[in-house]
Parts: sequence; structure tokens; C-alpha cells
Amino acid sequence: MSDRIAQLRADFESEVATITTESDSTALRDRWLGRKNGIMTAEMKTLGALAPEERKVQGQKINDLKAQVEAALETLQARFSAEREAAQLATESIDVTLPGRRIPAGHLHPITLLRQRIEDIFVSMGYEIEDGPEIETNFYNFDALNIPANHPARSPQDTFYIAGADLALRSQTSTMQIHAMQKRRPPLRVAAPGRVFRRDTPDATHNPMFYQVEGLLVDRNVTLGDLKGTVEEFVRRLFGPQTKIRFRPSYFPFTEPSAEVDYSCFKCGGTGCRICKGSGWIEMGGSGLVHPNVLRAVDIDPQEFSGFAFGLGLDRLCALMYGLDDIRLLYENDARFLEQFF
Ligand code: DAH
Repeated sequence: MSDRIAQLRADFESEVATITTESDSTALRDRWLGRKNGIMTAEMKTLGALAPEERKVQGQKINDLKAQVEAALETLQARFSAEREAAQLATESIDVTLPGRRIPAGHLHPITLLRQRIEDIFVSMGYEIEDGPEIETNFYNFDALNIPANHPARSPQDTFYIAGADLALRSQTSTMQIHAMQKRRPPLRVAAPGRVFRRDTPDATHNPMFYQVEGLLVDRNVTLGDLKGTVEEFVRRLFGPQTKIRFRPSYFPFTEPSAEVDYSCFKCGGTGCRICKGSGWIEMGGSGLVHPNVLRAVDIDPQEFSGFAFGLGLDRLCALMYGLDDIRLLYENDARFLEQFF
């Protein structure tokens, strides 16, 4: 009897030694400890045929073996679940010492950065910012702006017309003066930044598409002094409180009188440098008091109201401020160039 138990123990031990996988181990458990057909269950059943004394001794031996089998299977089970966990950890591991991946961040275009600064200044001076169409009729482009029928700006050599239509790409943001006055009644203050288009041959200082900002104020008793004060305040906020302006008499069909505005060079302060080409002054744009015909075109009575307007180009200003020697850089969309501005 006990020899048989010893034999079973030896069998079990040699079987345990061959187990290499978790499913082997499960099969071993079923074979030895299975409730119905397991070896240990069968062994227990033999006890019934024994005499009470013998049964006690033999029962003890079977129990000892069963305990040994259970312990061995538990050890195996623990080993396999530890191995499974280790394998899982290895595949899911995170190396917290690895350097992070940089998320590429976009940049605002230098023209956008400048436009935003200019918009902020105008908003702080009580101006509304307005956006308008880039394709315009002759009325907005020319007629309402008092531009005569024979004016060279109307020529197809200067303006991009849309074939077969009374439409053209706007060549100046001054068109926005008309929209602004049609939309609201004076008193009004509007600043309108946007793109304009001219049939220019591209070079370091020209591009067929560029940016302007138009300013317009209409109220009672508006004078040239109001225009000067406004432009002066604007350049001081943009370039610093020491900035000066000067007005040079000029001609624009939509203003009377008209003037071109220069501001003292932001780099040298007026003594002359490479940026201002030694003159100490930089051209800012055109300005003037709104021509009575322009007011009439939008049914505003020039006897009652007057206004001033100004237009400035953003591209050359942007190029000067960022030290660019060619404005075409602004439109080539070379990310290596654009990334440098923020
Ligand atoms: N529109 C003019 C241009 O593109 C600039 C300009 C001049 C705008 C005088 C104005 C102005 O508002 O009053 O050259």
C-alpha cells in the first residue's frame, strides 16, 4: 500500500519536473486533483475497502501526498503568473528618462503680428475694425472715391479686372471708406486692414498683392489738426513716444487737402541710418480730409460733416521693422523664414 503512495509521489515529482508552460500545469492539476477522475480522488476511494486501523494510516499518507501535490501546483501557478506579469510589464514599460517629443507649434505670420498691433492701437483710440470685399465694383474702387474716368489707376495695366464683369480686385483699402459710410451714419471711426492688388512686377519692394490699413473718421468740424493729432498718436504708440511726424502736401482724388505722412526713423531717431536711407524719415502713407464728393457719394452732407482718412502700407513697414531686405520673403511661405517671428 504505502509502496504505491511512494510510487505515486515519485511519479508526480517526475511529472512536475517536465512542466514548462502554464497549460501543462493546468493539465497536471486536472490529472492529479480533478474532482471526478483525478488520481488523488481515485486513491481516496480505495480507503473504503480497508480495515479501520489501516484506513487511518493510509488516509494520512494520501492526505500528505495530496498536500504535497497541492503545494507543488500552487508554486507552479505562482511562477507562471509572475512570468506573465513580468512579460506584460516589459511590453508596456515607459522609460520616463526619454526626452519628450516636441509638438510643433504654429507661428503667426509677421504681417498678421503687425496687423494685430495696429488694430489694438486703433481699437484703443475708439476705432472699429472692419473687413470688406477684395473684389469690388467700379463704384467702390473708383467712382465713389472721386477718381475720374480717365485716371491712370483705372487702366487695366494697373488694376486686375475680372473679365466680362464690372469687377476688379481692389487696388486700395480706400474702398472701405465707402462701405463704412454706407453701413453707419457719422460720427464714425473705422480702421480697415486688408489685402490689395496691383499689376506691379514683383521686386524687392513690390508685390502684386500687399496689405494696407485704411483709417476713416467722420464727424462735425473735423480738421487737419485732428488728422495730425491722430496720426501722431498712432506712430507714437507703434514706435515709441519720441516719434515725430511730418506732412508733405500731395494729391489724392478722394481727399482735399491731401498729404503724405512721414515719421521719424524708429531706428536712428532721425539722425539718418541705413533703414531710413540717411534721411531720418520713413514714408508712412497718404492722408487728407475726405473730399466733399466722397461724402456726397454716400449721401452724407459735406456742409454738416467732414472727415479725415489715411492709408498706410503694411508690407514695407513690416520689412523695415524686421530688417528684411525683400518683401517677397513675406509671401513665399518658407517655413524656415516664417518660424522666426512670434
Ligand atoms: N489709397 C491710397 C493709396 O493706396 C492711400 C491713401 C491716401 C489713403 C490718402 C487715404 C488717403 O485714406 O486719405 O495710395
